[in-house]
Parts: sequence; C-alpha cells; structure tokens
Amino acid sequence: MRIFMKKFDLFITFSLTAIIYFAGLGLTRLYGPEAVPILFCLLLLVVLLFLFEIYRRLARHIRGVGRGRNESPLRDIILGNRSCRRFHQDAPVSCGSLKELLELARLSPSAANLQPLKYIVSCDPSANNRIFPCLSWAGYIEDWPGPAEGERPAAYIIILGDTEIRDSFGCDHGIAAQSIMLGAVEKGLRGCIIGSIHREKLRRELDISPRYEILLVIALGTPAEKVMLEKAGVDGDIKYWRGADQVHHVPKRTLEEIFLRRI
Ligand SMILES: Cc1cc2nc3c(=O)[nH]c(=O)nc-3n(C[C@H](O)[C@H](O)[C@H](O)COP(=O)(O)O)c2cc1C
Repeated sequence: MRIFMKKFDLFITFSLTAIIYFAGLGLTRLYGPEAVPILFCLLLLVVLLFLFEIYRRLARHIRGVGRGRNESPLRDIILGNRSCRRFHQDAPVSCGSLKELLELARLSPSAANLQPLKYIVSCDPSANNRIFPCLSWAGYIEDWPGPAEGERPAAYIIILGDTEIRDSFGCDHGIAAQSIMLGAVEKGLRGCIIGSIHREKLRRELDISPRYEILLVIALGTPAEKVMLEKAGVDGDIKYWRGADQVHHVPKRTLEEIFLRRI
C-alpha cells in the first residue's frame, strides 16, 4: 500500500479536492447551475489522472516483482556488473566512451582527496595486442589460458598510481575501477578488473615511466558470455566455474553469512 499512497500523494489529493471544492463554490455563486458541467469535467479529469497514476505504479510494481527486483536501478546495474572475460572482439569501443568512463573515475572518492590516479586507455587493436599478453585470466578455471583470438577485449583502461603525489594508493584504484565498471554496464559493455598483471612486461611494452605504479587493468568490450550468480554453498566454496554450456557461474556468500551483527 505504501507504494501507491505516499504522504506527498495524500497531500496532493487533498489539495486538489480542496481547490475543486472552493472553485466549485465560487463558480456556482457566479454562474449558478451552468457551472455544474464545468465542475463535472474538472472532477472527471482529476479522477482520470488519479486512475492513470495508480495503473502506472501498479504496472511498475508488477514488472519489478516479476523480475525479482526491487525498484532500484543501481541494484540492477550492480547485478549486471559481472566480470566478463569473453567479448565480441570486433565490436569496437570508442576512445570517447573510454574518456566518459574516466570521467566517472575522476568524480569518485579519493583518500585525502589527493587524486593520485592516472590512466592510459587503449581502443586500438594493435595496441590491445600488446596489452593482452601481460594479463592473467580466471585463475580458478584450469586449462583456460584466457580469451581466444576473436573473443578478446576491444579496449583497456590501465590504472596507474602517480608516486609523485603519494607512494601508496589505498583503495582509491578499487573505487575508481568499480565506477568504470558500472559506467561500462550502463553503456551496454562489460569489463573485467585484472590485478594479476605481468607488470614489468607491461611497463616495457607501453614504455610506462617508473614514476607510475601499475595498479590495475580493466578489460572492456561487448560481452560474449553469460554469467550467473550462485549462492555459495555451506562448504564455503567461492571458486567460480564454467559449465559445459559455457555459462560462467559465480558463487556469492549469502547476506546472512556476511552480516555479523547489529550493534
Ligand atoms: C582487485 C581485483 C582483481 C582481479 N583480478 C583478476 C585477474 O587478475 N584476472 C581475472 O580473470 N579476474 C580478476 N578479477 C575478477 C574477479 O575474479 C571477479 O570479480 C570475481 O570472480 C567475482 O566475479 P564478479 O565480478 O562477476 O562478481 C579481479 C577482481 C578484482 C576486484
């Protein structure tokens, strides 16, 4: 019932009723019985608007419940933000889109507001070919060396820490990476945060100055794999796996398990 009748709605309804009542009084004094049809039309309009609003909310509520969602677009984006490791390599990601994602990182929180992160982006196939061999993919999936040619990322964002601003970067890069990942989902893209990097190889390959610490690489592209969330079993096994149907399954611990206590 709360969804359909919030306090503000009640306020609006009572205000409208009062306005119509007093307008009615005024009009009937001025025009006598001839004002009745005008009043009737006004009332009808309000009732129709009211019914339409109820219908709109009911439809939204049913759609949400049907998909097992609450009405939270943020939750939907977070649910959609699964690490993706196989892409349509030939679907390009423009450097403009990458810059828009960097804008989200730029606006993200930073310890002491020092903002020590810098970025290198790549959306060019030949540059991508230099980055790819420096990354390790899906450690839990044995005998899979990573995405094959044709299903590799179409773009990368490399997150660097500027040591001239500070010498440790706390969790700034994790927060920035998540902002980028969520922004990518909003654009219909998917990504994978890669922390397992052959850092010296990547430094040599891209001629990255020692001034910058290589923190994370985010692989991006149009997804070509299905990822499903699973409930982590009572045995506590959190290793993701790939089924025979090539669907990637990711166990998540339950809310009961992570919620220690209320104080
Ligand atoms: C800091 C960090 C480093 C990660 N490093 C790698 C990596 O080196 N290679 C990889 O394939 N996935 C990597 N991942 C992705 C995780 O494996 C993934 O987040 C986890 O399996 C849960 O899946 P989900 O992102 O779909 O929830 C990393 C994730 C984070 C947050």
